[in-house]
Amino acid sequence: MDADPETLAGFDPFAEQVIADPVPWYALMRQEQPVFRVPGAGFYLVTRYEDVVAAVRDTETFSNRFTSPGLALGRGSPAIQEELNAILACGYPRTPTLLTNDPPAHTRFRRLVSRAFTPRRVSSWTGAIDRLSDELIGAFAGRGSVELVAEFAVPLPIGVIADALGVPREMQPTFRKWTDDSTDLIGADVTDERRLDAARGLVEFQTYFAAELADRRRSPRDDFLTDLLQSGELDDTRPLDTPEMLSILHQLLVAGNETTTTLLAESMRLLVASPSDYGRVAADGDGSFTAAVVEEALRLCAPAQGMFRVVTRDTVLGGVELPAGATAILMYASANRDEAQWPDPDSFCPGRDGVRHHLSFGSGIHFCVGAALSRAEAQAALPRLCRALPDARLATDTLDYKPSFVLRGLRSLPLTFTPT
Ligand code: HEM
Repeated sequence: MDADPETLAGFDPFAEQVIADPVPWYALMRQEQPVFRVPGAGFYLVTRYEDVVAAVRDTETFSNRFTSPGLALGRGSPAIQEELNAILACGYPRTPTLLTNDPPAHTRFRRLVSRAFTPRRVSSWTGAIDRLSDELIGAFAGRGSVELVAEFAVPLPIGVIADALGVPREMQPTFRKWTDDSTDLIGADVTDERRLDAARGLVEFQTYFAAELADRRRSPRDDFLTDLLQSGELDDTRPLDTPEMLSILHQLLVAGNETTTTLLAESMRLLVASPSDYGRVAADGDGSFTAAVVEEALRLCAPAQGMFRVVTRDTVLGGVELPAGATAILMYASANRDEAQWPDPDSFCPGRDGVRHHLSFGSGIHFCVGAALSRAEAQAALPRLCRALPDARLATDTLDYKPSFVLRGLRSLPLTFTPT
């Protein structure tokens, strides 16, 4: 491993060293320049817990109506702009709903979505989570080796959300392509051709779910789509219209799948490196130890390392002047390792005090809508994996992370084990 960085000068969020391990950089920032202006990039990284929480609470100064660098690049190169717009014009308009919105509009969307994303609804999905976990594990448990990201951590969240949205089995490969399309449409590292294809995928996704919503309008069912449709009926709030519902459904794919994949993969990476914890998860009767592992994995390996905010007026944060119009990234991953908040912050200590105060799901009005769902998936999956692969070992010396600064995730996690 590289030596710890000695200076922040020349820091590049996409440098190989940073992608491989950003932790020492965050530590240096917290110590030397807790609100750090990235050289040449024009945005600020907020790295201390206290400052991140202050910014999250001050939604008037730190707005979510951002266009992230990724989203800006997602407009595609000038050469394909017209074609891209022509494709998207065949679909429904994309409206900001939750993640990229502020009060009061955000408040209305959040209230309506919360009526569909209820604890009762999430617990109705646990059967599907258990079934799909068992099915995926069954496909490799007898083999003695697995690439856990491709064979488990990716398909589980996609399969669960597909099931939750009532997508039939035969449509699931298409649904999976739509989830890839949704990330590629805004991704930085995407060819023009792929981006155009992703735009076509988005329109297909919209067309499919617009028809499903129309079906639920005619014949309501006991499901999430029906709840979303009916969410405005409880008071005099204007119900969600079709473009709004489609934007919300799309956001569930963008926000929910890759992040849960990372949680599953990182939890297993940490457990494989800690055999006694691995054994405890395998033998966990009431799930309490597993829940502690999941929270500690979230704290140490925030799948969304940070979230964008646009500064709406000149302000001071952590002693640094931020001008109106600046972009700040609230570095949840760094705040989660702030030594002022947790003793021995870089150690994996399931059950540590105050772990639920980690910021991996954000905090305040934008707190993750899917937190209960992703926790349920990880809590169901880990004991099953630890029991089925009783002596799993890492089958590589180097871990390979995707070249993304904000959505940090393992590209692969090869394991070997005694077949069961
Ligand atoms: C381990 C998995 C997950 C992580 C780490 C995660 C992380 C986050 C974070 C950090 C935020 C706050 C954004 C901000 O501060 O601006 C957020 C919001 C959100 N998440 Fe998640 N998420 C996960 C899973 C999911 C799932 C499974 C879904 C849905 C199926 C989901 C849907 C959303 C939505 C819709 C928002 C926007 C909420 C709002 O702005 O009011 N997330 N998530």
